[in-house]
Amino acid sequence: MKKLHITILLGTAREGRLSEHIANFLYTEIASREDVTIELVDVKDHLSGRTIPPWEENDDTKVWKNIVAKTDGFIIVSPEYNHGYPGELKILLDQEHDAYRGKPVIVAAVSAGILGGSRLIEHIQPVLSEIGMIFLPFSLRFDNVQTFLDEKGNVTRKDEYLSRIKKTIDALVLYMKRLEGVATELQTHKK
Ligand SMILES: Cc1cc2nc3c(=O)[nH]c(=O)nc-3n(C[C@H](O)[C@H](O)[C@H](O)COP(=O)(O)O)c2cc1C
Repeated sequence: MKKLHITILLGTAREGRLSEHIANFLYTEIASREDVTIELVDVKDHLSGRTIPPWEENDDTKVWKNIVAKTDGFIIVSPEYNHGYPGELKILLDQEHDAYRGKPVIVAAVSAGILGGSRLIEHIQPVLSEIGMIFLPFSLRFDNVQTFLDEKGNVTRKDEYLSRIKKTIDALVLYMKRLEGVATELQTHKK
């Protein structure tokens, strides 16, 4: 049976970003599952520096389009910047349009404060809905990210995170299974 495919998208290219720890942690946890395949995509590897609309294809945007095409469900790991999400994440998302349709997405929000990026979730939700993703109300919030790892590089609140992550990924996978084929069918329905 074909395994469904999850793409984790790390949405900041900031030098020294702490969100990278969260993306790596999620990757490791999901990689241990037998029911899905997983890929970590870094927005840093897709920096075009300007908006390239979906109809203006080039060799770089083709890479992202291929990733979207093969993905059944997304996890977007994003820090909160001025209550929003990083511009480079929006530029990358804007490179594709129809191929997102019918694919479930979970946001893993990251911040140095106590709210765990809650405000960026509110800003990104309408964007993800507009491009046709199925936004799931199971966002993960990683607050106080500067204490995520201890001085030895171990995750400090591992048990707490693991139980939340398992429930969330179980929900994502359930949606992916139920929506399999819907996304393909939706490609033929132009808005
Ligand atoms: C440009 C910028 C704006 C930021 N704005 C916020 C904010 O609105 N709310 C917040 O909780 N943290 C904010 N932060 C701090 C981030 O939460 C912090 O950098 C954290 O480590 C996550 O981002 P990182 O992956 O870039 O490290 C901001 C950081 C930057 C670089």
